[in-house]
Amino acid sequence: MTLAADLLDIATRIARDAGALAHRRRQEGVTVAATKSAAADIVTAADREVEAYIRAELARERPGDGFFGEESGAEEGETGITWVVDPIDGTVNYAYGIPAWAVSIAAVEGPPDTASWTALAGVVFNPVTGELFRASRGGGAWLGDQRLAVSEVGPAGGLIATGFGYDPATHAPALEQLSRVMPIARDVRRIGAASLDLASVAAGRMDAYYERGTHPWDHAAGALLVAEAGGTLGGAPGGRPGRGMVIAAGAEFFPVLEAVLDY
Ligand code: IPD
Repeated sequence: MTLAADLLDIATRIARDAGALAHRRRQEGVTVAATKSAAADIVTAADREVEAYIRAELARERPGDGFFGEESGAEEGETGITWVVDPIDGTVNYAYGIPAWAVSIAAVEGPPDTASWTALAGVVFNPVTGELFRASRGGGAWLGDQRLAVSEVGPAGGLIATGFGYDPATHAPALEQLSRVMPIARDVRRIGAASLDLASVAAGRMDAYYERGTHPWDHAAGALLVAEAGGTLGGAPGGRPGRGMVIAAGAEFFPVLEAVLDY
């Protein structure tokens, strides 16, 4: 078994168990534990518990690997592999009971920053629908036994997912940017979980996704899904996906979207 396939197996098992734990906690009732960057940016007790669970399981399976999680921060490893984890992506959906949230786990090689790492394995699991999207480098992107492929955009324009982030100061420019996207869009969707947006692009359910201001754990696994489904990814002009921008689309639609974003 290749290293990437081995890492994918570990991520899949842990994402399923972590998702079941988050789902159980959701049914018991949600407690908002704190706010983070803005009043709308919440963390629930379940986010913390589920990340602690994932971190402990990874340490048991692969001692020596690094860890980079949304809730408990970063720890350098010795193996060159780092796990990038969002225990509950779509926390606001989770808190409101909207069934669009996911456990996102990626294993990356190289320095733990989006500009230079190479993603080897990624899993995005929505425990409410039971859908588990998975990809390994060179091994394709999959949902169950269905191999995923990005869509081709027809004359009606792209179905485009995006997000607006939590910082109110970014909302006016984001809306201005959206007004430039609308002419090339069939319609837009704001689902509220970046990992699921990217998984949807990989699955051809969405033609494209873009968002400014996301964190590495929001897009590490989803970006690998898109790449392995034949899609194109980008960030700030000419760069890789990062905090400045994440763009994901099929090869033909990507430059069309990138051109109107004008960031
Ligand atoms: C958020 C979601 C949301 C996106 C935000 C993310 P979180 O992640 O992915 O769709 O718009 O930028 O921070 O906070 O729910 O893990």
